[in-house]
Amino acid sequence: MYSRVAAYHAQQGHVLEADADGPQRRGQRADRPRNRFPDDFIFGAATAAYQVEGAWDLDGKGESIWDHLLHSGGKITDDGGTGDVAADSYHKFREDVQLLKELNVDVYRFSISWPRILPDGGVDRVNQAGIDYYNKVIDELLAHGIQPMVTMYHWDLPQKLQDLGGWANPVLADYFVDYAELLFEKFGDRVKLWTTFNDPCTFAGGYQGADGKALAPRVDLPGVADYLLARTVLIAHARAFRLYSHRFRHVQKGRVGITLCCTWFEPATSSVEDQRAAETALQFELGLYAHPIFSREGDFPVVVKQQVEAHSKAEGRRRSRLPPLTSHEIAEIRGSADFLGLNHYTTRSVRAGESGRVPSMQHDSGAVTSHLESYPVSPAPWLRCIPWGFRKTLRWVSAQYPGCPIVITENGWGDAGGLHDDMRLTYFSAYLSELLHAINEDGVKVFGYIAWSLLDNLEWIFGYTVRFGLYHVDFEDPDRPRKARASAKFLAEVFRTKQLLPEHFKPSAVASDK
Ligand code: NOJ
Repeated sequence: MYSRVAAYHAQQGHVLEADADGPQRRGQRADRPRNRFPDDFIFGAATAAYQVEGAWDLDGKGESIWDHLLHSGGKITDDGGTGDVAADSYHKFREDVQLLKELNVDVYRFSISWPRILPDGGVDRVNQAGIDYYNKVIDELLAHGIQPMVTMYHWDLPQKLQDLGGWANPVLADYFVDYAELLFEKFGDRVKLWTTFNDPCTFAGGYQGADGKALAPRVDLPGVADYLLARTVLIAHARAFRLYSHRFRHVQKGRVGITLCCTWFEPATSSVEDQRAAETALQFELGLYAHPIFSREGDFPVVVKQQVEAHSKAEGRRRSRLPPLTSHEIAEIRGSADFLGLNHYTTRSVRAGESGRVPSMQHDSGAVTSHLESYPVSPAPWLRCIPWGFRKTLRWVSAQYPGCPIVITENGWGDAGGLHDDMRLTYFSAYLSELLHAINEDGVKVFGYIAWSLLDNLEWIFGYTVRFGLYHVDFEDPDRPRKARASAKFLAEVFRTKQLLPEHFKPSAVASDK
């Protein structure tokens, strides 16, 4: 539990101080069995609009950057799949709510498709059919006792805003705040958990290259447009948060956060250089976004500013490729979240050295990352099952941003798609074990866990070749039937009982603090 003062600060949107009096203080053990989650812990499952909805041009929806890219000709995804129909959740959301019931979730994390509501991106033309659709989804969830958790932006930018330069253009912050305001107005009476952005570190990949593996919109300006994006996203997020606090919070009484991705970076050796490189890699991946919001001092991490500045200088540039935040912006961004949503999947090994194009964020970081070869690998080759990295991530985040309430907004395993998903089950039980160790032994303040994903869906550039669903979807069948995998049954029990059975609760590979 965290103190009233901390709760007050959370309500006010201030950065939370380290908890002074609760059993959840880092390093302090909780007084419940170590295989049990706290009673008020929330469990859920997640999806994202473009990945599951389909109905890409129905009922007045506008074109998104993903529609645009995947319709641009040729086989863009690994199997040529698109999100045109996807899992057809646009029509099958009632069935999906039944699956969520079966899973015993407390929350459903889904995203709103910006172009479904605002086909041109701006609030001057609202598509009522889009508003109606999300009203139905939200009402259906609430009627079944499931809390909606809404992601405002899960990568499907209206194409018309990309035509303005997308997130590299600071004016996008104005468009985003208008969009957020509309969402608060239309849905905030019932939605109490919001995240502004999903995983900007990954969608910045859409500005880091235009090769066949790149995400939309495939802008080839690494080390430049991705930093402009970071700045716009942070400002947009903070202004949406402040708007909520000023206009909506006192009536709607919800919470607004942001979801960031954090891979764990493990030093390849115990050398000072490799340890420093691993730390720097974390600052470039998570710190770039989290430090301005959740640290006491705000602003981009010092090491990121210094390294980008030094490289920019060496390239003969007049100014740093990472545009500085003004003191007003630093103040506006600092403390602008009620919680941190964390997507965590995997761990990579890091050594100091040079890699990547010049310029690029990868090159700026001075970290060379590689797979830890001995761990099980998914058909999505970036993903390996390395559970101990989860606990290390949580300890690192909690040490960097003391007292910050964390919710795991994504964690999951991709496979080739069978119904008997033993490896996914192994992954979930091992990662949940490490999560329990982090909460109950390290006192990391995690208040919820949301699995990725409720359903098989379009895994971006991998198409349908990699499946993350707790429920299998048959994409050959026009009706898109869903079927529970073994892991769905496993998680339904964990979510119901709020514990891992002793046979699933594994000792941690990470030594406890004490
Ligand atoms: C992160 C993204 O938020 C989600 O859209 C994606 O499908 C999963 N990770 C798995 O790659």
